[in-house]
Amino acid sequence: MSALSFYRPDNERSLVSRSDIPREWPLPASVLRPSDFSRALLAGVPAASPSTGSMALDVGSGSGVIAEHLCALGYRHVLAIDSNADAVKATRQTLSTTHRSASISVVEADFAEVRGEGFELVALNPPTLPDVSWARSRNQIDLAFLSGPEGRTFLDLVINSLTTLLAPSGRFIFVHPAYLDLDRTTRLLSTGGFRCRILRTVWLSTAAFAARMESYGLAGEPLLRFAMARSGATSSASAFQHRSEHFALHVLEATHASSYRGAVSYSL
Ligand SMILES: C[S@@+](CC[C@H](N)C(=O)[O-])C[C@H]1O[C@@H](n2cnc3c(N)ncnc32)[C@H](O)[C@@H]1O
Repeated sequence: MSALSFYRPDNERSLVSRSDIPREWPLPASVLRPSDFSRALLAGVPAASPSTGSMALDVGSGSGVIAEHLCALGYRHVLAIDSNADAVKATRQTLSTTHRSASISVVEADFAEVRGEGFELVALNPPTLPDVSWARSRNQIDLAFLSGPEGRTFLDLVINSLTTLLAPSGRFIFVHPAYLDLDRTTRLLSTGGFRCRILRTVWLSTAAFAARMESYGLAGEPLLRFAMARSGATSSASAFQHRSEHFALHVLEATHASSYRGAVSYSL
């Protein structure tokens, strides 16, 4: 973590404690503008607990919209990382107008290089689409949408790091579109010793999401159809969630199974 750069913004204004994310968000074309995925994630992130909620990690910070929200929710130490240098600049810019009270680090790094532990909260809006050469824009924005042959390399990498990253009472909150295999994600979490629950589900327009990718120069519509056809073939649960015009986006929470405080059953 030698690349850590500490960043202390200089006022208390919050962009997302207002009614919505502003429409105008000046960002370079290589950085994702806050999206419906970002909004869904924001709505699922819990406020910091006064006793434990001090450290939060924003993985793949992009514009900085999630990191900014974490500061507004009372996390005292916020680490934001992104492998796109333009996104790191954007996150710093966003945070430069917020929250004197939080200590914030914004780091340019590939998540694979990040080592950390004891985070009360890890927040993730990952790239979720297959990285196929015919779909790319050939710009850094590809990192925001495409991840490995199945679209889940980044998500799986983060899940596989949770055992050390998350504090015993920590929460991993992430968004998960129906065209990723939900059964596979929950199995991976369960193998790692985590419980997972759906916090909420929103339905997003397939056409609007495709158009959004196209506005960044990616082959949005065929790529989304490709991803949906793939998941329909491998997961009946995902296929069931595809309505003709919309797809489900789940907001999921994973916690260490040993810290589960739900109903306990036993027999004598
Ligand atoms: C879908 S965007 C989310 C941006 C922002 N968190 C939001 O919700 O609007 C995913 C972000 O992850 C970053 N990213 C992708 N692969 C990464 C990696 N291996 N390590 C670090 N960041 C990565 C991308 O550059 C991009 O900014």
